[in-house]
Amino acid sequence: MALLRFGLHAITTLLAFGAALAAPGLLMKRQAVSSVSQSQIDSYTPITHYASAGYCQPSATLAWNCGANCQANPSFHPVASGGDGVVVQFWYDPNLKTVVVSIQGTQPSAILPLLTDSDIQLTSLALDPILFPGLDLSILAHQGFISAHAMSATDILSAVQTTFSQFSTSRVLLTGHSLGAAIALLHSVYIPLHIPSAQVTYVGYGLPRVGNQDFADYVDAHASVTPVTHINNQEDPIPILPGRFLGFHHPSGEIHIQDSLAWVACAGQDNANTECIVGDVSNPLAGNLTDHDGPYNGIEMGC
Ligand SMILES: *[C@@H]1O[C@H](CO)[C@@H](O)[C@H](O)[C@H]1NC(C)=O
Repeated sequence: MALLRFGLHAITTLLAFGAALAAPGLLMKRQAVSSVSQSQIDSYTPITHYASAGYCQPSATLAWNCGANCQANPSFHPVASGGDGVVVQFWYDPNLKTVVVSIQGTQPSAILPLLTDSDIQLTSLALDPILFPGLDLSILAHQGFISAHAMSATDILSAVQTTFSQFSTSRVLLTGHSLGAAIALLHSVYIPLHIPSAQVTYVGYGLPRVGNQDFADYVDAHASVTPVTHINNQEDPIPILPGRFLGFHHPSGEIHIQDSLAWVACAGQDNANTECIVGDVSNPLAGNLTDHDGPYNGIEMGC
């Protein structure tokens, strides 16, 4: 039944995708790509483990007993965990001198309906002026991600503030995989609005599209103070969903892992170069969900 539902969604998506290809406004732009050195790739490894450890039980990470992901980052200090529906964990990394906020993702089968439902709503972030004060009304994001973000927003803010004073830092690294990456991207917009002194960095894995063109442009416009990197793997279909024909766009900052496992940095938004996800995975049916969990430089997401 679930498969049939997904099949129907996929076919609807595919039909609309075909129609979109015919629309000149959505013709895809191939932009520059550049290689990522092995030392740059390796610099993401601790972050990848933090994203993966987001799937572990908070009790296990608090006790420093979450298996490979905990062993990989032996010096981190678990600080707190919380979440309402979505588990959020807070750590302090003395090497990176940053607070780490890792937001738990979900099974591909659970996120797919959110991305392929025919009634996906794009909603203005400014409709919640308490969470997103001063944003332009034209900045829209996926209603499901906005709701999930709102459930943990104030908890995250107070935990970040507490951890900043505890460790005398103003750096925060937001990470997550899949749904967690999407929620974390909204936090990268949210946290600087409330803690202007925070130095926020975002690294997401298997990120679906979160918002509209104005959202992507807002993220790009703040990238010099809030750098955004989103890493996607081989034929993972999640990062090409929801479709651009539904009004969704990625911000810049993509790194795409090739079938050869080489990492390539893709300039611009939704770069259609065949070495980037939009050019590599022509439609959701050409994707392979197995690639969603990794490997990201040898690391599979999950605990
Ligand atoms: C999907 O990816 C996995 C892992 O790379 C691979 O083993 C499998 O053969 C792929 N499936 C298809 C249908 O290509």
